[in-house]
Amino acid sequence: MGFNKDFLWGGATAANQFEGAYNEDGRGLANVDIIPIGELRRPMMRGQINKTDFIEGYHYPAKEGIDFYHRYKEDIALIAEMGFKAFRLSIAWSRIFPKGDEEAPNEKGLQFYEDVFKECQKYGMEPIVTITHFDIPIHLVEAYGGWRNRKILGFYENHARALFTRYKGLVKYWITFNEINMLFDNPFMSAGIILTEEELEDDHKRRETLYQAAHHQLVASAIAVKTAREVDKEIKVGAMIAATTTYPDTPNPDDVWAAHLLERTGFFLVDVQVRGEYPGYAKKEFERNNFNLHITEEDLKLLKENTVDYLSFSYYLTLVKSADESRTDAKQGNVLTSHPNKYLEKTDWGWNIDPKGFRITLNRLYDRYNIPLFVVENGLGAYDTLDENGMVQDDYRIDFLAKHIEQMKLAVEVDGVDLLGYTTWGCIDLVSAGSGEMAKRYGFIYVDRDNDGNGTLERKKKKSFNWYKKVIESNGEDV
Ligand code: BG6
Repeated sequence: MGFNKDFLWGGATAANQFEGAYNEDGRGLANVDIIPIGELRRPMMRGQINKTDFIEGYHYPAKEGIDFYHRYKEDIALIAEMGFKAFRLSIAWSRIFPKGDEEAPNEKGLQFYEDVFKECQKYGMEPIVTITHFDIPIHLVEAYGGWRNRKILGFYENHARALFTRYKGLVKYWITFNEINMLFDNPFMSAGIILTEEELEDDHKRRETLYQAAHHQLVASAIAVKTAREVDKEIKVGAMIAATTTYPDTPNPDDVWAAHLLERTGFFLVDVQVRGEYPGYAKKEFERNNFNLHITEEDLKLLKENTVDYLSFSYYLTLVKSADESRTDAKQGNVLTSHPNKYLEKTDWGWNIDPKGFRITLNRLYDRYNIPLFVVENGLGAYDTLDENGMVQDDYRIDFLAKHIEQMKLAVEVDGVDLLGYTTWGCIDLVSAGSGEMAKRYGFIYVDRDNDGNGTLERKKKKSFNWYKKVIESNGEDV
């Protein structure tokens, strides 16, 4: 009973949120580098600002991140001390192909990740590697328009092939795109797309562009699956979504339907990656709107033949949807907005805290897809303060994670969900994707750095460090 003995306990990160060293060893500039903290962040993520370089007077937290690039040995040793079986990280595309369209990869970039993976191997830790976690070389944005352009498919294929080949035997679990469903809300961050005047004004035009970009990512994902299988039969390639479990505001069928439609926007792309074809509702949406999409027979064949091996997802919150369009009380979550849920507490950033929703989500995803699942992000973003002994007493984080792990256990033990592992988000404090803050902390390890980039970058164990160690040691029995 309980979790399988090979259950992959661990933590998760992303290159742009923790590596830093944005211009070292040949790394090219990327979209994520030029998204600042502050009022420009959201409009930039959404593709509403036509800029491809730094703007004076703004702070760019991705430039230095938490300096994992230079401190990876120390950081991996620390997480190994917690007993991690898995460590999720992503590749910065512009470290491997600085401009994106070169024929040969940058050796120094390849070497860096090889060193990191070997360091993981030293501690018996399985790397879970995301090929694209919200990043694209800026040259591909400037010269090709990001994922709106079909040519990106070939560049992504070269990139994926270079990775699978170089890291054969070192990395078994790959993820093609982080939270692929983010693309519709954050086209610049997820797909390097800066919207044109016409797309900003015309909803139909914008949706057409985004569906085309999404199609390109889906085909790229299928090509990655195909390439991985050619290179190494042992590799497992997964899709990844931000879970959007949505409750109706009331049992009124209008609310139920509105909630269903909102939740389905989250499933749409994964439906293709897991089942190998566009679902009926998507085809009808394309038809009804008369979208002019370039989808070839060859594309459809690739999608059909190269479905993913597992589905990974992030879970932070659940949403509430009302059919009443005049309501103004919806608040931003990680992807979509939600009306309040009077039964749930909220985080300091207004996200609904819903452990039972985690069990519901695991079940909904497993019922829908029936392939192994992998929880690759879950956690509490909170303000942490050091006490007089320099300790962070983060009992609130322990409480949050314990309640989620208990529900995950029920999903596995009672409901029979096939789950590969669980990696908490931001196991070491890192830059927030949504807000660019350092003050929104998720880690078991505190990093001395603030929102303005001040601090020594020193690492300190929080109270939750020993707690999570115990959870892993007991394979989830002692939470
Ligand atoms: C997910 C992303 O959306 O949520 C991460 O994959 C992100 O990159 C995480 O950091 C938490 O969101 P935030 O905005 O609190 O950093």
